[in-house]
Amino acid sequence: MRIVSVVGARPQFVKLAPIARAMLGRAEHLVVHTGQHYDQAMSEVFFRDLGIPAPDLNLGVGSGSHGQQTGAMLAGLESAFERFRPDWVLAYGDTNSTLAAALAAVKLHLPVAHLEAGLRSFNRRMPEEHNRVLTDHAADLCLAPSEVALAHLRREGLGSRSVLIGDVMTDVLYRVRDQQHLTPVALPLGVEPKHYYLATIHRPDNTDSAERLRAIVDGLAHLDHPVLLAVHPRLAARAAEHGLDLNVGAVRPIAPLGYPELVNAAQHSLGVVTDSGGLQKEAFLLRVACTTIRPETEWTETVELGWNTLVDRDLSALGEAVRRPTPPATDAQPYGDGHAAERVVTTLLNATVLDANAPSA
Ligand code: UD1
Repeated sequence: MRIVSVVGARPQFVKLAPIARAMLGRAEHLVVHTGQHYDQAMSEVFFRDLGIPAPDLNLGVGSGSHGQQTGAMLAGLESAFERFRPDWVLAYGDTNSTLAAALAAVKLHLPVAHLEAGLRSFNRRMPEEHNRVLTDHAADLCLAPSEVALAHLRREGLGSRSVLIGDVMTDVLYRVRDQQHLTPVALPLGVEPKHYYLATIHRPDNTDSAERLRAIVDGLAHLDHPVLLAVHPRLAARAAEHGLDLNVGAVRPIAPLGYPELVNAAQHSLGVVTDSGGLQKEAFLLRVACTTIRPETEWTETVELGWNTLVDRDLSALGEAVRRPTPPATDAQPYGDGHAAERVVTTLLNATVLDANAPSA
């Protein structure tokens, strides 16, 4: 069986790592990189550090408006799929690359599976929310990372084509964390374990407005320990446009981190402050408290279990939220057991594509 994975943005490379490994010897696996992320620190280092084979094709689409970027991917992926004629297209997560993969596949009547299906923020301002809803509804197979995600899919009438497999990010995180017990990685800027916070901010809703970004940086600047701020290219660009210095107070700006460095920095931090989806979950899996600068989260289990707190409009509450007492210990595993990728491959190998006219559950 020939399976084509389509990836393009940083979090998708992380999800690809355990899938590529699980495919070995079981299926012919090809990787198409849309080129959505192209800086070395945003793309290449992930392939290198996570041992992912180089993409079979890179479309080199690069940055642009949503329409330009998604349209260019759609055209490029159509040609790629015509060339590779896969038995399955595997789309990952919720980026523009995800939506383009699903659309290109269904137009060619190719079966498409969506990894990380069923997540919902219910925030229609987020481009990711549209990407994931549209991809789920186009997909022949929805691979849900959690019970909550599966329940969303069922509610939307997609139950008969949905499978609970767990989260492949758990697979890769556990693997990298365990490797680091053997080969420790240095912390950036020589900070001491449990004497710093780790922060990432990249969403348009947090960076595009000068006033909001200033309030976030001000909140970080006044924290009681150094804050390693890993700077995404959008944050760097918007801060420069707004004339905002990121090197203020407790804030220590650093370049984007590779995956092992990020896991290491999160694990040894006093807490994480982020607007990233993946990092909220990674913090939870590492049992590090997370404060999320967003009005809502797709990863609701992290909040319900006490390990994630949302701060949105009242950014003056940031300091207090970050310094809150240690959350209650839990052995809950809402995101699987670390073997989701094997289940993905088994499911794809055994799945029959559903009749498009069959009634949904
Ligand atoms: C994308 C995803 C988002 C995910 C994030 C992870 C969409 C709609 N959003 O957001 O869900 O959380 O990836 O990082 O797909 N840039 C560079 N170098 C790069 C890549 C981007 O300089 O290698 C700059 C460009 O100025 C670009 C901007 O970053 O315009 C934003 O990149 P883009 O791919 O549009 O979206 P992300 O914000 O990275």
